Amino acid sequence: MPEIRVDGMLVNAAEGVSLAVALLSAGRTRFRTSLSGEPRAAVCGMGVCMECRVTIDGQPHRLACQVQVREGIEVRT
Ligand code: FES
Repeated sequence: MPEIRVDGMLVNAAEGVSLAVALLSAGRTRFRTSLSGEPRAAVCGMGVCMECRVTIDGQPHRLACQVQVREGIEVRT
């Protein structure tokens, strides 16, 4: 079971799932905040809506639904 770090907290994720699924499974329902201050999270799960953008290992605007969980990744919402 891969262990990832989300906003500084360790989270155990299921093997083989997308990062979006791992975040939602961990109870994270805010992946980012819109310019107007609204909470945003994954909607489509297939790379279309762009609502699941997070920072992964220092790279901003990565789509959490398009990245498979792997041991040790650092995620910032
Ligand atoms: S959930 Fe829609 S692009 Fe990731």
